[in-house]
Amino acid sequence: MHLAIRIIEDEHRSLAAVLSALGEAVAEVRAGRLPGDDAVLEAMVCYIRDFPERLHHPKEDQHLFRLLRRRAPELVPVIEELEAEHRRGGELLRSLQEAVAGCAAGRGSVESLSAAVATYAEFEWAHMRREEEILLPGASRVLTEGDWAELDAAFGMQADPLSGVEAGPELRERFRRITALAPAPIGVGTARGEPEGRGGEGALPRGARTRTQVGIVGAGPAGLFLAHLLRRQGIESVVIESRTRQAIESTVRAGVLEQGTVDLLDELGLGARMHRQGAEHHGVELRFDGRGFRLALSELTGRSIMLYAQNEVMSDLAGAWTQAGGELRFEAEALGVAGMEGPRPVIRFRQGGRDEELACDYVAGCDGYHGVCRAALPRSRREFFRVHPFAWFGILAEVPRLSPELIYALHERGFALASTRSERLQRLYVQCDPHDRVEDWSDDRIWSELHARLSTRDGFGFADGPIVQKDVIGMRSFMVEPMQHGRLFLAGDAAHIVPPTGAKGLNLAVADVFVLSRALAERYATGSEERLARYSETCLRRAWNAQRFSWRMTTLLHRFADHDEFQRRLQLADLEEVARSRAAALSLAENYVGLPFPD
Ligand code: DHB
Repeated sequence: MHLAIRIIEDEHRSLAAVLSALGEAVAEVRAGRLPGDDAVLEAMVCYIRDFPERLHHPKEDQHLFRLLRRRAPELVPVIEELEAEHRRGGELLRSLQEAVAGCAAGRGSVESLSAAVATYAEFEWAHMRREEEILLPGASRVLTEGDWAELDAAFGMQADPLSGVEAGPELRERFRRITALAPAPIGVGTARGEPEGRGGEGALPRGARTRTQVGIVGAGPAGLFLAHLLRRQGIESVVIESRTRQAIESTVRAGVLEQGTVDLLDELGLGARMHRQGAEHHGVELRFDGRGFRLALSELTGRSIMLYAQNEVMSDLAGAWTQAGGELRFEAEALGVAGMEGPRPVIRFRQGGRDEELACDYVAGCDGYHGVCRAALPRSRREFFRVHPFAWFGILAEVPRLSPELIYALHERGFALASTRSERLQRLYVQCDPHDRVEDWSDDRIWSELHARLSTRDGFGFADGPIVQKDVIGMRSFMVEPMQHGRLFLAGDAAHIVPPTGAKGLNLAVADVFVLSRALAERYATGSEERLARYSETCLRRAWNAQRFSWRMTTLLHRFADHDEFQRRLQLADLEEVARSRAAALSLAENYVGLPFPD
């Protein structure tokens, strides 16, 4: 990459960082945690005046725009717009300076300061984006080696201290002032890179920050599938994960893959072990009132499911990713994401005791319900939450398969599910109290509940054996709307959690990142953000349906403490309808095998 382009992009990133820090500082003033006359506000505005307005824009006007006018007449209208924006930026900056001075002197309100910051930041972000997305690619196409030599010399002469290029003493001093004044966690201060400690130069050294096209927070199903899908499209990504690799590959989760998920693993060339070790199933059994009914998935829908544990999928994805040289940082705790409204969002994380930053074009929040990404959505987001009055007690047992296909059973003692991991290892669940702990369930109690709940009028039986793992699985439903904000896109459990009945969690995460990868591919190939803009809407439609289906499976098959006999009869009648009516069976089957991934 030419030095001039690198410097322009670095200077944009620095301006974006100071603008986002200024926004955070003003939020601190609003919250009463920072005085309105704090010197850091003035220092930041002075930085913006000195760098972009006095140094960055004039360099662009005098060198880049002049050469481009000569070489690419088709870009002249864009260049004229950008020049006009430089002038308009100067005016907006003056309003910003007045707002800061007014607030410091107790004349103006913090609301008008906040509005001036937002207006200026939005304006600058849109401007930088236009330059990076239209002008710089155009320049790479048309400028000659001689032009680049002139530009590299002009841009390299004196640059921005935040971007790490050597700066003049006056400019370095300005940066020093911001870093010295800004309290944590405003971001340009110590939390961003401890500039005061680094050789006393005050500038962030190169290499302290990394950058990528798509920063992915979280190496669960959503994050790792996304990394692979993006690579298939030639898009680079880095994955940040707080847990160890071992934790990811050994956590026991559900084990049902929809056909769409299976097909995607195959397309990525990662399906070989799944086909060897997994088991394809063409039906499941619903057992109630002491009788079994087979829901003939394949006959009804033409599709099947694959029994293959989520942790095995994780192991296949992580192994292939790192083997192919993909960057996956384990034990890297995401601290937050910032700058989502601008052109250069960043992920802040701590690894090996050091705070680091990853600068990205886009951020994928695949960090689960407790992750940091959802917190970066505006407060105006809507969240929907339900906790169910029961949980599942899950075991792994070394016994032969109980039955050739999964059994979902409703019994007056509660729900039970017999699933499988291999010929010799079975995954079994019983409905339990949400407050139960693993110690509350002895092996005898588990087996006796399983025998009772799976029993049939014609004497179904199976062998007990050693239990090698026990866990309690909570039942929650959660949704957030929208699933995106600026350049941040949530996927998987960060955006939605469904109760486990029907095993939709992983499959839903895969559908999200399938949509996201296509939208990002379109963005990088054509510049169009049309699909990205529709991401949340597209995913939410499918996610709400999965929520509805999981809710239906849950209410159909569990024992509710507050149900009376009337409600129990209705529940049985509902199950009878699935057994009797092809239409009802088809509706359940089509959702169970999974709807097609959205376009
Ligand atoms: C499994 C989990 C589920 O939630 C389900 O509905 C079916 C199977 C499993 O762990 O195998």
